[in-house]
Parts: sequence; structure tokens; C-alpha cells
Amino acid sequence: MCGIVGYISKERNPNSLRLGLEALKRLEYRGYDSAGFAFWDAEKKEIVCQKSVGKIAKLEEKVNGNGNKPVLANPIILHTRWATTGEVTEINAHPHSDCAGKIWLAHNGIIENFHVLKQKLEEEGHKLSSDTDTEVIAHMIEKFFSGNLEDAVRKALPYLKGTYGLVVISKDDPEKLVAAKLGSPLLVGLGENEYLVASDPAAVIAHTKKVIYLDDGEMVSISPNSFSITKGYNVQQKKPENIEWDMEDAQKGGHPHFMLKEILDQPESINNSIRGRVLAEEGKARLGGIRYIEDKLREVEKIKIVACGTAYYAGLIGKYMLEEYGGVPVEVDLASEFRYRKPILDKKTMVIAVSQSGETADTLGAIKEAKEKGAMILGIVNAVGSAIARESGVGIYNHAGPEIGVASTKAFTSQVTILALLSLYLGRQRGLSLVMGQRIAKEILSLPGLVRETLNLNDRVRELAGKYKDYDNFLYLGRKYNLPVALEGALKLKEISYIHAEGYGAGEMKHGPIALIDENFPSIVICPSDSVYDKVVSCIEQIRCRKGKVVVIATEGNENIKKIADDVIYIPKTLEMLTPIVSVVPLQLFAYHMAALRGCEIDKPRNLAKSVTVE
Ligand code: G6P
Repeated sequence: MCGIVGYISKERNPNSLRLGLEALKRLEYRGYDSAGFAFWDAEKKEIVCQKSVGKIAKLEEKVNGNGNKPVLANPIILHTRWATTGEVTEINAHPHSDCAGKIWLAHNGIIENFHVLKQKLEEEGHKLSSDTDTEVIAHMIEKFFSGNLEDAVRKALPYLKGTYGLVVISKDDPEKLVAAKLGSPLLVGLGENEYLVASDPAAVIAHTKKVIYLDDGEMVSISPNSFSITKGYNVQQKKPENIEWDMEDAQKGGHPHFMLKEILDQPESINNSIRGRVLAEEGKARLGGIRYIEDKLREVEKIKIVACGTAYYAGLIGKYMLEEYGGVPVEVDLASEFRYRKPILDKKTMVIAVSQSGETADTLGAIKEAKEKGAMILGIVNAVGSAIARESGVGIYNHAGPEIGVASTKAFTSQVTILALLSLYLGRQRGLSLVMGQRIAKEILSLPGLVRETLNLNDRVRELAGKYKDYDNFLYLGRKYNLPVALEGALKLKEISYIHAEGYGAGEMKHGPIALIDENFPSIVICPSDSVYDKVVSCIEQIRCRKGKVVVIATEGNENIKKIADDVIYIPKTLEMLTPIVSVVPLQLFAYHMAALRGCEIDKPRNLAKSVTVE
């Protein structure tokens, strides 16, 4: 996701631009699609800006292309962008400036009322050149500027609705770097010879471990030799804190493993996946990537989802949603099977490829095959610009941020969320009622909060893992929307703890797996209060008769279930179609803690790869 760095040196330093770029590179692990910087050239007395689509290395090439002459760049603002509003282009990359090119700014977050602000600014004569929400902030600051940058920023901020972490410089108040925060992270690094501002401690750690974390509503104004933090006009006295982590830890946000960080990141990653895409009042989804094919989508007669691993399980949940609410028949295929099984495709078939990395060879092969047969292709991909995203042509990005742990967690909940949005989108094209549309939209918006609540179970799940860590076999059961969750829960456990686990449809248990049950073969049953609740309860009873231990994932308030379960984990209530996004969370945590307690290497389990680019 987007990254911000601000750099201001206390002395004249011809290396400052290189140092700023190095700090920015330490945010590369978060993923981005374009990068840029702007700085005050103290000798030429002008602001210089460079941007490029792609890697930071490309920006560096541009700098080196200028003969690599040392410049007295001070202060500097730098940014890595992961596109959310406006496509991936150089114009949309940050920093953005005002009309006169005097005020330059980089921003993380989203300005929700930017359309309104943009219209007003244009009426007042401002010329905006990008499609981003960020650019309006530069023009708002311009509007209030009368010699003091800090003052202008302070006056402009109350007009912004949404979230921001931002850094600003100005030609007319040049030796100053101003930064402000609301909802997006921002900290100030206090180095010996320099100050840094960053959205992530990983950017500053090589320079200093002394940092001040800004709180919402705070602003910092930094000059080469001093800084002051204010909230409104009140000066804030804040004590610096010491970062205790090293570089790798910093990237893990202080957690012992990327997997845990990514599980805990889910409220934010889901928020990023739905941001700007839910029209609550209209009960609709707005999906920019597919708006060009809106009419073609009306004609789609069947959908085939192709994917591998965890993404395949997300696809299976998508089938239930798309059929129930989207009104289209759906088949889900393992991409590795699809490409060899002579699928019947035509122009009215839409093939949806779901992939976190966007590089999985089987999924890529499947869509190439489908394309040749004339099917429409749509990608649901997390990695911007990846092979599957490019091959699909149209698609919906997850915007879940980079996933580094091999066992997929936040990508899964994001994929299911996007499939819910797509079901809403197609459903509303095909007669899904306004009322139902509004209900789904409202519930999608509450998902980040529900997942946050579910994450409070972390300690309880760790305790449970302590109780069950010595068992060598597990059965995971679920039905309807939660059958794929059972498959995913079992996959998580086997991937990282190497414990044998089988995922099964609760209705299928009597056709085979019941033979395995005894007191040494525990079952984890996903049994929320939904349309198949009674059926799943019967399945639990059958296990109990055979002395099998049962851990049940149930809906809050269901006290009865305690009578037939050895252990219960309660999850919050939501619409049946969205339950998987909540019910999978304790299963992710369970797998994580089981693996941790058994001393397994969690982020890079044996024999597995994050991105499988071979058949
Ligand atoms: C590998 C990963 C899984 C992932 C699968 C599909 O097996 O270890 O976590 O679910 O590939 O990857 P994709 O990037 O296409 O979602």
C-alpha cells in the first residue's frame, strides 16, 4: 500500500536525496505501482519533482540520468503509490501540486469528499490535472496560503472528509516540511543529523530508533533545526519512543511473524478492498475496473471461476453468493484441471480468475485457454500489474496490500469480499431488490468492524491451541457457505503445522469420514446460526455418539450449543453470505498458534512457495 517519507537534513547534505530514496525503498515490501518525490533545491531556488510508474529503481534511473550531479535537496517528500483513485499513471503518481507548482504534497488515505471539493475548486478557477483525490488537498492549501505553510495546511484540513497521512513542502516557505495525520499512520524520526517523517517505522529505522508517533488530528512542522507538534493551534509536548525492533521486525509491525500481522491486518485490508466501492443508499457496488463492460456483463449467461489453493476456496464461496444474489449459474474449477478438461465456453461465459499473486502458472494457463475460446475474462487479483492482471484486461484489484506469509489469510478474506461486491453488482443488474441490495451493502460496510471484533478471540484461540496441540489429525466440517471455510481451515492447519487435517462438507460426513472418528480424532465444526444450522447440529451429534471431540464455531448468543460441544468459539452475527469472512478468522488463528506451539517455521513452511509460477 502507499508509503510516505519526508526527509529534512540539519546540515547542507549533498547525499540527502539518496538517503530519502533509500528510506522510501524500505517501504517497497508493502507493494506499490508508482513512485515519486519532490524537493526544494536550495541552490537553484526551485522545487524539483520526479515521478515514474513502476519500481523506485526507475526513479533512480531518472536521477542518475541527470548526470548524478549532487543537489542540495532539502526538504524532500517521497511517496510510493498503490492506486485507489485514478489509474496507474505518472500524472496520478504523487507528489501532487497546486496550480502554480509551488505547493507539493504526498498523501496516504482517501479524501471521500474530493468530488465536491474538486468541483468547487474548479469553479474558483483552479486547474487540476490528475484523477486523484490527493490533488485537491494541494489546491486547498494553495487557497489558504499567505506566506506560512503550516498555517495554510491547518486551515485547509478541516475541509477534508476521509483519512490522511500527508507531507507538504512549499516554494514560498521553503525550509519547512509540514506533515499531518488523520486515520493513516505517520511518525517523526529524530535522527542525529536529520528528521524523517514516515508512514511506517521501517523507513526510519536505519537512521534512528527514536520516534514520535503522531496521533489523529496532529500536525508537525519541521525546520532543519527544530520541530513542533500541534493540534489545532495548541502545541503538543510528546515524548519520543524507542523502536525496539530491527528492520525485519519493523516490516512485521512488531509481530513475530508476517502471518500473524496479516491476520491482524484484516480489518484494514477488507476496508481497503471495499473503500469507495459500496453505494449504501443505492444498494449497489461501484467497481471501476469493470465499468467499461457494464453492458456486456448484463448478457453473461454463466460464470466459471478458476483459481488455485486458498483462492480456489474463495471461489467456491463466490459460487454460493453469485448464484444466490448475482442470479448467474457458476462453476468453480481448479485452474490446473480447467485447462485440461475441455471446458465448454462461449462469448456469454465469463471466466473469473482469482489470484493473490497474479502469477500462478495454472491460473494464468487457464485464462489463456479461455481467452482463445472467446470467453470474457475478469481477474480478481491482489498484485497490481501482475501477469494475470495484464492477461485479464478487465478486473478488480483487491487492494489488500502485499501478503508475505506463504499461508494466505488476508488475501482470502479480501477475495471473498470482492466476490460479495461482484454478486451485489450483478444482482442489481438482474433484479435483486433495492432493499436486499441495501442490506448487503450495509453489511459489507460493517465487515471490518466485525472482523476486528472476531480478532479479540486471539487469546482464547491460543488457549485452545494449547489444549489441542498434540493431536495429529483433525476433521474440519461446514456446510453451504461454510463448507469452503472448512476446506480453508484444514488447508491452513496442514500448510503451517504439518498436522493432517481434512476439510469436508458436514452433509458428507456420514458417507465416509465418520469412520475416522474416535476420541483421538477431533473435529472443528463451523456451525453459525444460519439456514443449515439444524443440519450441522445433527452432524455434531453423530460425532459425539462416537466419542469424538468437537470444537464448534457458533454465533454469539447461542448458549445451547455448549451442551453438545467440548469447546465453543463465538463469532459475531452477519448475513449468511458473509459469514465465511468472519468464521475463517478463528481458524486462521488456530492454525497459527498450533504451528507456533509446535515450533514450526510459520512464514515459510517446508516445501511451499508463495507464488507458484510452475505447473
Ligand atoms: C500457493 C500459495 C497459496 C495460494 C495459491 C494460489 O499454493 O502457497 O497460499 O493460495 O498458491 O496463489 P494465488 O497467488 O494465485 O492466489
